[in-house]
Amino acid sequence: VEIAVAAEDLELSGHEHYMLKEMQEQPAAAETCLRGRLDERFATARLDGLGLEPRELRSFRRVKILGCGSAYYVGQLGAQLIEELARIPADAEPASEFRYRQPIIEHDTLYVAVSQSGETADTAFAVNEIRRKGGRVIGLVNVVGSTIAREVDGGIYLHAGPEVAVASTKALTNMGLAFALLALHLGRLHDLSHADGQRILRGLKAIPEQIRRILDAEDQVAAAARRIASASSAFYIGRVRGFPVAREGAQKLKEISYVHAEAYQTSELKHGPLALIDEAMPTIAIIPDDELTERNIAAAEQVLARRGPVLAITHEGVELDLPGVESIQVPKNEPELDPILLTIPTQMLAYHAALALGHDIDKPRNLAKSVTVE
Ligand code: AGP
Repeated sequence: VEIAVAAEDLELSGHEHYMLKEMQEQPAAAETCLRGRLDERFATARLDGLGLEPRELRSFRRVKILGCGSAYYVGQLGAQLIEELARIPADAEPASEFRYRQPIIEHDTLYVAVSQSGETADTAFAVNEIRRKGGRVIGLVNVVGSTIAREVDGGIYLHAGPEVAVASTKALTNMGLAFALLALHLGRLHDLSHADGQRILRGLKAIPEQIRRILDAEDQVAAAARRIASASSAFYIGRVRGFPVAREGAQKLKEISYVHAEAYQTSELKHGPLALIDEAMPTIAIIPDDELTERNIAAAEQVLARRGPVLAITHEGVELDLPGVESIQVPKNEPELDPILLTIPTQMLAYHAALALGHDIDKPRNLAKSVTVE
């Protein structure tokens, strides 16, 4: 399949780095991903390419998501979305592990392969294995006509446009959106109410503009990033919906700034890693405005009590009341969709930390854009 890519899509167009350009393209990329897919009348998502009948979609008892690296972390976010909106048990697993453990392929499981490039060898192999054993697998893929896109039963194209920087940004955001669309679609085939479907549609429509607003806070994020860049290690903490955000945040920082970062469930901090906290170990705490806000604030207090610097990524309107804590505030959406937006400042943090350290942002050492080998 020949895919035409406009030359200007591959140019820096005045940006210093592809990563910066691609982060800034996110509002438009999100709009493209959502275009024509929001069905107001039936309060659902229109997903014509799934290749599965509604009857078949209703029959799945489980959803298993497979991807590698950041795609796997978005997969965790996707699993959470599917469980919340469709109430179908869902989980994500690194495709690179799945393929080596002689997986049991179940016929009442919907498998979802997620990949920007569509060429990641581990994910492509997992797809192959599922199909060979008679399982049903759909793809959330960016590159049209790629290996994975061709091998799945159907899927949702991400429509993020070409992504050049090794550190993925706009494709990941669109993966989050594609999972939201899938979760909404499955939800409406199950018990999600029309009103809740409309609530999610309203939330989705607000996302492009909300991303724009987050990107506007670049100067504040850059200042915070410079402080993180001077550390040799950092923690990212989040819980439930915030945990995939923390994992992706830590991944991005490691990938391009080479600052060691580790993600923990906020609830797990006291079970070990708290011992590492001191003045030299910054913690980036994901604190959404939701039913767990107070608990998350209490955990940040625990870090502060051990003199650990805390940077909170939180929602507008949240009163942290934590002395000395800096916060980056993002606009509030629906709770299920919030993680998509909370991730954006973590990309900006990693970018500015890498910039401060003078690294080759678009081509980090030892990494390739798509890992086509085992
Ligand atoms: C993301 O910033 C990374 N470069 C990496 O983890 C990537 O997401 C992973 O290799 C999967 O790539 P894919 O989406 O093309 O399959």
